[in-house]
Amino acid sequence: MTLYDSSVAIIKAGQASSGAYVASPTFSQYGYSWLRDGAWIAYGMDCAGEHASARAFYTWAGRTLIAHRDRVERVLDKLQRDITPEDTDYLPTRFTLEGEIGTDDWWDFQLDGYGTWLWGLVAHVEMTNDHALWESVKPAVELTVRYLTPLWQSSTYDCWEEHREHIHPSTLAALFSGLSAVHRRDPALVPAHLPESIRAFTLQTSIAPDGHFMKYLGNTAVDASLLWLAVPYGLVSVDDARFQRTLALIEQDLLRPGGGVYRYAADVYYGGGEWVLLTAWLGWVYVELGRTTEARKLLGWTAAQATADGALPEQVSEHLLHPEYYTEWENRWGTVACPLLWSHAMYLILASSLKDQI
Ligand code: BGC
Repeated sequence: MTLYDSSVAIIKAGQASSGAYVASPTFSQYGYSWLRDGAWIAYGMDCAGEHASARAFYTWAGRTLIAHRDRVERVLDKLQRDITPEDTDYLPTRFTLEGEIGTDDWWDFQLDGYGTWLWGLVAHVEMTNDHALWESVKPAVELTVRYLTPLWQSSTYDCWEEHREHIHPSTLAALFSGLSAVHRRDPALVPAHLPESIRAFTLQTSIAPDGHFMKYLGNTAVDASLLWLAVPYGLVSVDDARFQRTLALIEQDLLRPGGGVYRYAADVYYGGGEWVLLTAWLGWVYVELGRTTEARKLLGWTAAQATADGALPEQVSEHLLHPEYYTEWENRWGTVACPLLWSHAMYLILASSLKDQI
């Protein structure tokens, strides 16, 4: 079986009958469905032509959000009365596979997944012309837009579920892109000025003095999630000078020569390994830049990380940034997640984008 086929099979096996995708079927903490992971997994399945699977995910996400409508109303009501919501008031970042809110403590106030689900949903509808799906999830789209409108400038946990007290350009880019996609699809649902304000704010606040995007406002280090600003979120184009500087720093600080991509230099989670999904992401950026030889090299590295039965891990631990932290995490949560569905999805995305180049 090729890695392409095992990726599709592992994702299908990890999709519950509800439509939710589990982040990892075996890892102690990842038995939930994240909107962020889920939307990427759905996009990977769309790239592989598995539209029914993606559709089931979006249907589940729409149904789940509507079921938690009262949370949105509570948050909006508090904001209207100038009361700062508690972290537990917000929508969570992950749900149980049945669409319930989990009972374990988690770093829940994150917004990027809410942008990603809108982005992915519109991409799916544009790929499939599935107007019936769009109509059926429209109430959930409207609810998401109402939720994000007063919140997009909040400090939140980032896409790595860290740094609650900061504002993160990759989160802003996800929100920009999701809201622009909805505007493109139905201008009555999102006014054009909303995504444009997000873009303007990001460009005003997120660029370091030497011209690259920063990990978060006030921290000039780079983070590999800044790749998303151009691909696919399109907050800037891939050849934008500010993005090019960011990319050069990511290549310098986070790409191990001949290896994979780290999240950020100070990463201590499982000692800070190379992330399969980010390595595929850099490959995707290279495809968009026409640097296909380098993209193929990264595809090759990504594929070489698969186990004998075709499973891709979250991260690879042979060249850790901070090895002294590895055991602490292993003792706490067990071995690194494998398979991680999001890693498989990014492999499918890169492999299909390279197939289009042939
Ligand atoms: C990552 C998140 C991801 C989650 C589930 C976390 O360790 O930082 O980005 O959504 O795992 O895969």
